[in-house]
Amino acid sequence: MEKKIILSGIKPTGIPTLGNYIGALRNWRQMQEDDKYCYYMVADLHALTVRNDPKELREQTRSMAALLIACGIDPERSPLFIQSHVHQHAELSWLLGCTTYMGELNRMTQFKDKSQKHSDNINAGLYTYPVLMAADILIYGAHMVPVGDDQKQHVELARNIAIRFNNAFGETFVVPEPVMPKFGARIMGLQDPEHKMSKTDTNPNGYISMLDEPAVIMKKFKKAVTDCEPTIAYAEGRHGCNNLLTIYCACTGKTMAEAVAEFEGAGYGKLKVAVAEAVIAEIEPIQATFKRYMDDEAELDRIVKKGAQQAGERAQLTLDKAYRAVGLR
Ligand code: TYM
Repeated sequence: MEKKIILSGIKPTGIPTLGNYIGALRNWRQMQEDDKYCYYMVADLHALTVRNDPKELREQTRSMAALLIACGIDPERSPLFIQSHVHQHAELSWLLGCTTYMGELNRMTQFKDKSQKHSDNINAGLYTYPVLMAADILIYGAHMVPVGDDQKQHVELARNIAIRFNNAFGETFVVPEPVMPKFGARIMGLQDPEHKMSKTDTNPNGYISMLDEPAVIMKKFKKAVTDCEPTIAYAEGRHGCNNLLTIYCACTGKTMAEAVAEFEGAGYGKLKVAVAEAVIAEIEPIQATFKRYMDDEAELDRIVKKGAQQAGERAQLTLDKAYRAVGLR
């Protein structure tokens, strides 16, 4: 049987949050099965769409690679690479840009959000970012793309681009599908549970960083915003409570019904401590492995170099095919 191809990426802008982990990274780890072949990358080109500090970007790219391994990406099995090390992504992006309508890009909610947030730097890269993301996916012939809810629209655009290109130039690309977790495709902020948890939040109490110390994690959950209802339930409009229960289910493997039954009659204090403990149990071993890889620079370099070589070979095949299809060769 032919293996299903998986591709996903994460931007090296800050340390990933619990949201990144539950929404995407945990799924990345779990998808490394015998019937699948996974490519995972640190999307450093994507990080340039907001103003960046070169030294910081270099360091964050490196620590993101170490963290992905710590989260369970096995680089012997799944090529792990840095996006800019595989030059074919940017080349394919040009072809796909010529197959994408501005109307489609205008509809991207992330572009709207980010151009509001960075109103002094609404650059063309921010606008065409979803085209580069489509290139990332299509260049590996990915069937499935594990992402959180906020990236679903971009994967759907990649689907539409693939279908349009195939119709115009003949079967060239696999049409990909987004894959999201059962619980936690959208983990919300702890201080503002109506907005997603984000690593660029200005209030550090709003998110759990994957490198937060256990005592800090406990403190942040204790401060989490909930509501004035006396009971713990998963219900419409109860954003803070729903978010805590979702995180609890994601980290313990319990169903929502089991979680709600467990906290029947209990107060928020008990729920918050239980959620924090479940998160700490999940994150602590990751932090230990992360430190080991950060201390072994040579090994990390070897891994991403090999990953880029493996990814580059596959990417070149698709790029050649696409160039031929449009009449460039
Ligand atoms: P990025 O770096 O913003 O986020 C990485 C992954 O984490 C998920 N995520 C969340 N999931 C649940 N709750 C949250 N609060 C939360 N915040 C983030 C995101 O959905 C994502 O899956 N453009 C991408 C990176 C990228 C990519 C790709 C992804 C570049 N090329 C190709 C897939 C395929 C991004 O900015 O993700």
